[in-house]
Amino acid sequence: MIYLKTDEEIELLRENNLLVSRALAEVGRNIRPGVTTLFLNNIAEEFIRDNGAEPAFLGYQGYPASACISVNEQVVHGIPSDRVIEEGDIVSVDLGTFLKGFVGDSAYTFAVGEVSAEARQLMEVTKEALYKGTAQAKAGNRVGDISAAVQQHAESYGYGVVRELVGHGLGRKMHESPEVPNFGARGRGPLLKEGMVICIEPMINMGTRAVVFERDGWTVRTKDRKPSAHYEFAVAIRRDGPDILTDFNIIEQALNN
Ligand code: MF3
Ligand code: CO
Repeated sequence: MIYLKTDEEIELLRENNLLVSRALAEVGRNIRPGVTTLFLNNIAEEFIRDNGAEPAFLGYQGYPASACISVNEQVVHGIPSDRVIEEGDIVSVDLGTFLKGFVGDSAYTFAVGEVSAEARQLMEVTKEALYKGTAQAKAGNRVGDISAAVQQHAESYGYGVVRELVGHGLGRKMHESPEVPNFGARGRGPLLKEGMVICIEPMINMGTRAVVFERDGWTVRTKDRKPSAHYEFAVAIRRDGPDILTDFNIIEQALNN
């Protein structure tokens, strides 16, 4: 069952995802060598609560924190801990909010200081793949059009596209139908309709696509221990094209100041 949102509901989802964008910017301003992932989690949680929202991840299926913070070879769902961020790390920060009955869910991968040229390219291509997928997010297209665009861009660089985790519908619940894989065939899958809201979230590995689920029950890492990048935003499907509800400009402006 895919819920179609009214314009009012889409604005509430925008409010949530703009708050997530601002919280990600706040984390971005504080990410530097020497800080722990738990410190960054606490900054995000405080920011979310100070803005009248609840952290949507905390307690979700027993998840123990407000942020997922995944460093280098960690793909997603890294649990904040006393792990210290180092120069050259790439760090995916994934945040969720619950405000006014709706959910926000977006992620951004940050470079810490000088990162290798290969890691920089991985991040850029993953973000480009997200935008290429998003360009397909319009009424009349199918989910497979998004999936194929993401996959094609990432694989053209020889990167591995993670299969085990996928994007999703977003609304009153964090995970609604449909699933939005980052791989697939054009013209296949559910039809995109005006009023659908989905999260597109490519998880792209520098090496192979194989991943391992760590014994902590959450952390997903690359099997070959090469780095992985992850960006996520929420998009409303409109007749005239995608309406991106998350604002990466807020994050990128914070990083340039
Ligand atoms: N952003 C993640 C997703 O899209 C959710 C994090 S899982 C949680 O699936 F348990 F931390 F909430
Ligand atoms: Co998500």
